[in-house]
Amino acid sequence: MVVLVTGCRSGFGLLVAVEAARRGHTVYAGLRDLDTAGDLRAAAEGLDVRPVQLDVTVAAEREAVVAAILAEHGRLDALVNNAGRALGGPLETLDEDELRDLIDVNVMAPWALCKAVLPAMRAQGEGVIVNISSVSGLMAMPGLGAYATSKYALEGMSEALWHEVAPFGVRVVLVEPGPFKTDIWGRNRTLSRHALDPDSPYHAFVERLERLVHTMAQDRAEDPEVVSRKVVDLLTTGGRRLRYVMGKASWIRLGAKRVLPEALFGRILQRLVAGE
Ligand SMILES: NC(=O)c1ccc[n+]([C@@H]2O[C@H](COP(=O)([O-])OP(=O)(O)OC[C@H]3O[C@@H](n4cnc5c(N)ncnc54)[C@H](OP(=O)(O)O)[C@@H]3O)[C@@H](O)[C@H]2O)c1
Repeated sequence: MVVLVTGCRSGFGLLVAVEAARRGHTVYAGLRDLDTAGDLRAAAEGLDVRPVQLDVTVAAEREAVVAAILAEHGRLDALVNNAGRALGGPLETLDEDELRDLIDVNVMAPWALCKAVLPAMRAQGEGVIVNISSVSGLMAMPGLGAYATSKYALEGMSEALWHEVAPFGVRVVLVEPGPFKTDIWGRNRTLSRHALDPDSPYHAFVERLERLVHTMAQDRAEDPEVVSRKVVDLLTTGGRRLRYVMGKASWIRLGAKRVLPEALFGRILQRLVAGE
């Protein structure tokens, strides 16, 4: 298979690219900045992983990568829309540009890449698009509202696309991980610029939440290879199912949300984050 994976500098993207190549696929591994391909190149030594410049928010880079793959192979079998960012901070504290930038990376770019690869997949009569969403696309946590906004949008978009392209033989898959140990909890962890303003009415809440997030990243985040292996499985197997929840924390949170009355669930969550 010829596979395009976005966001391969670290985390799931790097692991999916390497695992897919290990299983014999030809992998184009997109990087926001090609100069940061060091870890990927080291992990992919001897494998058919081809790092490519692809800031997913830049239309010219998206078009160039898809055109180069089609020129070389005449086909593109799979797209893994993995590149993504998180942004912490209560919704009221966000500046407009912060929310727009996040939506650009997490929603507009995956949509544009789907649009770019679909003509080839339709012509082939087959193809698979994997969109890496999150448990935050099925359940919105306080303090992570911007991220939830973007992942809920990705969910809606993917669900509609799933219906729209099935008649052409193209599968759409949504992956819903809980917390896994990647750079999203470290190097790429971002708070909105005003989230910790000392005079903000949310100041104490954000400090508490930061401590919770720190503990979770240290103690509870799981091994990301669980996700990357499953994502690569999904390139070649899988029926017509859309959503794949991954990780213990996702199952627990989503299970609680499903079985508890909404008001009770809300009260418990609000008390937890209030430290009561
Ligand atoms: N790890 C988790 O707990 C978790 C849970 C649920 C969902 N997810 C989702 O999993 C996906 C991958 O994240 P990760 O956990 O593997 O974190 P990560 O290690 O921080 O990886 C994110 C990747 O996306 C890239 N990226 C960001 N903006 C980009 C852009 N404009 N163009 C191209 N690449 C860009 C990053 O490149 P740079 O570092 O160079 O910016 C990085 O390679 C994301 O969609 C995230 O929302 C993660």
